Amino acid sequence: MSAIYLLRKISTKTPTRFHRSLFFSTFSKESPPDLSRTTSIRHLSSQRFVPSSIYRFPQSKILPNRKFSTSVETNSSDKSFERIHVQSGAILERIHKNEGEGEETVSKVNVETERVVREESEAEKEAWRILENAVVRYCGSPVGTVAANDPGDKMPLNYDQVFIRDFVPSALAFLLKGEGDIVRNFLLHTLQLQSWEKTVDCYSPGQGLMPASFKVRTVALDENTTEEVLDPDFGESAIGRVAPVDSGLWWIILLRAYGKITGDFSLQERIDVQTGIKLIMNLCLADGFDMFPTLLVTDGSCMIDRRMGIHGHPLEIQSLFYSALRCSREMLSVNDSSKNLVRAINNRLSALSFHIREYYWVDIKKINEIYRYKTEEYSTDATNKFNIYPEQIPPWLMDWIPEQGGYLLGNLQPAHMDFRFFTLGNFWSIVSSLATPKQNEAILNLIEAKWDDIIGNMPLKICYPALEYDDWRIITGSDPKNTPWSYHNSGSWPTLLWQFTLACMKMGRPELAEKALAVAEKRLLADRWPEYYDTRSGKFIGKQSRLYQTWTVAGFLTSKLLLANPEMASLLFWEEDYELLDICACGLRKSDRKKCSRVAAKTQILVR
Ligand code: GLC
Repeated sequence: MSAIYLLRKISTKTPTRFHRSLFFSTFSKESPPDLSRTTSIRHLSSQRFVPSSIYRFPQSKILPNRKFSTSVETNSSDKSFERIHVQSGAILERIHKNEGEGEETVSKVNVETERVVREESEAEKEAWRILENAVVRYCGSPVGTVAANDPGDKMPLNYDQVFIRDFVPSALAFLLKGEGDIVRNFLLHTLQLQSWEKTVDCYSPGQGLMPASFKVRTVALDENTTEEVLDPDFGESAIGRVAPVDSGLWWIILLRAYGKITGDFSLQERIDVQTGIKLIMNLCLADGFDMFPTLLVTDGSCMIDRRMGIHGHPLEIQSLFYSALRCSREMLSVNDSSKNLVRAINNRLSALSFHIREYYWVDIKKINEIYRYKTEEYSTDATNKFNIYPEQIPPWLMDWIPEQGGYLLGNLQPAHMDFRFFTLGNFWSIVSSLATPKQNEAILNLIEAKWDDIIGNMPLKICYPALEYDDWRIITGSDPKNTPWSYHNSGSWPTLLWQFTLACMKMGRPELAEKALAVAEKRLLADRWPEYYDTRSGKFIGKQSRLYQTWTVAGFLTSKLLLANPEMASLLFWEEDYELLDICACGLRKSDRKKCSRVAAKTQILVR
């Protein structure tokens, strides 16, 4: 019996420097790392790295016994769900089991038996080579992939770091190939970073925040000894000091995907992992001044991590938030200490989907309604609730919106609708069933109708259309990287392919994804896997685009693997949850004199 202890120091105060030292692993240049110490944080599988092919974890053993928290329990008046209280001090947890019995590492993926064996194209073979090369090791174990590995790049900035969001397609490619260890290591190490000391000019953001990225640094202790350190960036070094709101949401989404694909649910059941989920959820669900169920964030808090006019309630964050809420609802074990949180999650899921379905949806009919809106309505049952002035409808939209199809707005605030089409947010609304089944269909119809604008010569436009002239000057702050039709300002990002593939597969339209993938495959290998493409139709490699960008490579591979393994793909999306539709947290009943505004509004949009 061998035991490795995980020491996780969680305090209600901001963690101190002491925490940092716990993450150091000391070893000399001559001798291998000291694997026997039990007093410092163990680097989990790094200390017990066993070729993963030895281990199997039969899915059938685990699946039937799972206890999900998906049954709906709500409480209309209980907005102040319980805050997680973690006592100052350490939680000691034993994590490894019987040595020799082959049970301690369960991250070998169970897909091998189900995987369709097919001939790989040249592009795929090269992509795997690049992806393997991008792997970052910490104390000898794989923990992530660098953002880019461009040999010609003399100024990699932070592209040599492991980004949380960038690692997701890499993780899925590895999982779908049958390699789970790197994903498990990544999830556990980033979980540790969650309680890291983080300050920007003496201010500490909320506990539970996940970093945007991290780097493995080798620090010299003396002439002969070095130590490896995980060095996270929570935005304190990032350009523009943007807060990585999406990181924690992606972490939760990946944690669920890991369980679903490997069948190893023991990871998500661990106390420290459960605490990690709760901390992220608590941060997102904390009460504030918000009037809407959407998450209020600053500009640049997601994949678009520079100023692009997406502060407030951008769709990308809302759809990832909704997905993370659904994941958490599945993964949280229900007990006395979690039941209030689960209830808060259910209430938020219901309110959020209603809000997005009702107020973010645009199609030709809705635009015509907005065009004729009355303004300055002071009442609880106003039609134009957000006081949108019809003059806001941009001239491009009137011509662009097809007869068939529609999409979810980029952002909604008082007196402001951002009519740009944001790709990632619309895809995740499909994948997570944030939008209605009809709306999901319509989003794909719009993409088909507007193929040249959204796919063109390289899938996929990050948003459409570009901000130009004064809009570009004022909204981006004259950002030379985000000039019209470049980078975040309507550049084309091949990494988005895997998310498009998932959305198409969910809607039973894989041929759309195949068509887009074929467009990409024609160029990516020859163009050396650029980060993004420029111009209206995505014709040119991006002005400042990195080459050998890992999530371009991984997005391509993951798309291929998903298309080849539809059963695996189906583990990664959600169907409509009819139970959620019936929750209403406002407490007003049909018979009440004052009617619930949601019940009234349901007549206008097709919820089901
Ligand atoms: C850029 C992108 C961001 C990505 C990072 C690493 O900053 O805007 O989304 O995570 O590069 O690739």
